[in-house]
Amino acid sequence: MSKTNVQLPYFDELLEQLRKGNPDAIQAFGRHVHWGYWENPDAADGSVADFAEAAERLCRRVCDSGSVGDGMRILDCGCGFGGTIASLNERFSNVQLVGLNIDERQLERARKEVKPRAGNQIDFVQGDACELPFEDASFDVVLAVECIFHFPSRERFFKEARRVLKPGGKLAICDFVPTSFMMPFIKFMDLFVKNSVSQVYGNVNSHYTLGDYQNLAKNTGFVSQIEENITSNTLPTYPVVCRLMRESGNIEAGNITMGADWLGRLGLTHYMILSFDAK
Ligand SMILES: C[S@@+](CC[C@H](N)C(=O)[O-])C[C@H]1O[C@@H](n2cnc3c(N)ncnc32)[C@H](O)[C@@H]1O
Repeated sequence: MSKTNVQLPYFDELLEQLRKGNPDAIQAFGRHVHWGYWENPDAADGSVADFAEAAERLCRRVCDSGSVGDGMRILDCGCGFGGTIASLNERFSNVQLVGLNIDERQLERARKEVKPRAGNQIDFVQGDACELPFEDASFDVVLAVECIFHFPSRERFFKEARRVLKPGGKLAICDFVPTSFMMPFIKFMDLFVKNSVSQVYGNVNSHYTLGDYQNLAKNTGFVSQIEENITSNTLPTYPVVCRLMRESGNIEAGNITMGADWLGRLGLTHYMILSFDAK
């Protein structure tokens, strides 16, 4: 398998839906491909429009946890269709924005959809987040929005992020983080569901606990800053995403995603925003 063609079946399906012009797919995932954030989850109305707004809010919360500001050079790793870059471009001035993704097909859409505002610069670059094609100390902020679980190694990614960050720069991510006391149970469940999960979502490693992240930060030249558990704010995502998957005929994907919903509701896995300062 070439590095430009990492297998992510859910993106193959999504690209097909976008190609067909499916209006729900375009509204839900044409910009961001991640979960939503609801300040008040009870107020979520289950509509695709409500979900799209919530996805933008989640993106902004991750960017804010990286203290993004005007004039910065920012790298978004695993940038998808460029939604985070688009959001930064709309919110900030005199910024140099770089979106990096392993999948050239997604970058083609990003380049078409996301154009810089006057004074801003945008580049979309194909590459692996664990082998960043950038110079040392060349970014103020590195972001990875809901994608680190696909990367071949969190350790290599953190080392690379630290290398390209200026001292005092920030790394901000969001991830599904299992609670450590439930790890044996989660690993046991994996024996039964791992194959089905990878048939929908490709290579996924969701075994990294908060303690693992804290050790990783220490060992790679970072200091942990923000550790925010936003699980309950993301839960209205599941009914919308599962409905869309089932409506497009992907029953298995809907069922797998419902399983992730239960991991969150039962407190086995937390959805977390994490940020780190480069020493
Ligand atoms: C759930 S999507 C998130 C996309 C985007 N961050 C967003 O929030 O809309 C995961 C992304 O990670 C990308 N990805 C997976 N492995 C990667 C790698 N090794 N290096 C760079 N990007 C990768 C995928 O192509 C996909 O765009």
